[in-house]
Amino acid sequence: MDFLIKRDELHECRLAELDTQPLEPAQATLKVESFGLTTNNITYAVFGEAMSYWDFFPGPEGWGRVPVWGFAEVENPGDTGLEETTRIFGYLPPSSQLVVTPDNVDARGFVDASHHRADLPSPYNSYAFTDAMPVYEKRREAQQMLLWPLFFTSFLLDDFLGSEHLFGAQTVVLSSASSKTALGVAFQLAQREGSDVVGLTSPERVGFVDDLDIYDSVVPYPEVDTLPNNPAVYVDISGDAAVRAAIHEHYGDELRHSAVVGATHFESLAPEEASSLPGPEPKFFFAPDQVRRRTADWGGEGLDSRFAEAWGPFVDWADGWLEVVRREGPEAVKSAYLELLEGRADPSVGYALSP
Ligand SMILES: NC(=O)c1ccc[n+]([C@@H]2O[C@H](COP(=O)([O-])OP(=O)(O)OC[C@H]3O[C@@H](n4cnc5c(N)ncnc54)[C@H](OP(=O)(O)O)[C@@H]3O)[C@@H](O)[C@H]2O)c1
Repeated sequence: MDFLIKRDELHECRLAELDTQPLEPAQATLKVESFGLTTNNITYAVFGEAMSYWDFFPGPEGWGRVPVWGFAEVENPGDTGLEETTRIFGYLPPSSQLVVTPDNVDARGFVDASHHRADLPSPYNSYAFTDAMPVYEKRREAQQMLLWPLFFTSFLLDDFLGSEHLFGAQTVVLSSASSKTALGVAFQLAQREGSDVVGLTSPERVGFVDDLDIYDSVVPYPEVDTLPNNPAVYVDISGDAAVRAAIHEHYGDELRHSAVVGATHFESLAPEEASSLPGPEPKFFFAPDQVRRRTADWGGEGLDSRFAEAWGPFVDWADGWLEVVRREGPEAVKSAYLELLEGRADPSVGYALSP
């Protein structure tokens, strides 16, 4: 099975037979077993051209395979040194199989050295053996594929804000407060003494977000001007132009930092060029920069172990609200994708899909 999206019309998508080719000597095949699907994957499609997300798993002319995070097993190791049935976690296509060219194979995993991936950001080319992953638990595979890629950014963002002493502010305002990424940031910030975390969300999601009791206050988008205008930091997960403008106009110079993180409201995105808004210039938060910074400070293993320490309590908390919906088969992949694309998905739901 293969799930393809029309690159210039994301609402057009189709299921296809996977076109398989004989393996070359350095190649192996992975059988894709399951993957998570959230709005993050929609953002990969929205920025498929601009940020090269379509280039990881190239599709036929004009069509793309949106990347997903999930589990696979070595199906045919060829002569690569991998062992059959080894379980792997990483970046996958929404297809039943992936051909990789394993390189740097060690006890922790390998890198896919396929030619077409050489210039793409390296963290996405690494595949981990689940046995060697500090956060891996068999019973929590669904939570891992749904939340791990999001919470890694949440963790890094909180760490970044903390290392900047919240830019001298106490208040952090997050948009798309109902998203799993925002909830991860709020969960981390709640552990910082003295911080005041405000969640902005759509009016119909205020109840869901409020009930989670992780934000100090929850405000619907149309009521931004009711916020006290003390010094604040904005963490923009919606990417919404009107919401960003409302925040910048409301806080003006009291806004100490404006971080661009997500684009859930992809149909009303703020322009990328320099803004004429009051307050600081919105700045893209690039997680790999913080990874580099912390790898230099703590070493790779130090970063992994700090992340693992934060992960446990977060997943325990998410068990209280995350509804894992397991679905199987190609049609299930297509319908979950369209539901997310059209903004119809319930924020508490996480799709754990098996092709
Ligand atoms: N920069 C990075 O490194 C990085 C890393 C991880 C995630 N992210 C980004 O963070 C964002 C959240 O991802 P997620 O997977 O955590 O999301 P999610 O849990 O699936 O979020 C769902 C929420 O997003 C908003 N939303 C989703 N689709 C929408 C639509 N079509 N129209 C309007 N609102 C919509 C709604 O929130 P509201 O009503 O509350 O707005 C909805 O409740 C994505 O843009 C993702 O790419 C960025």
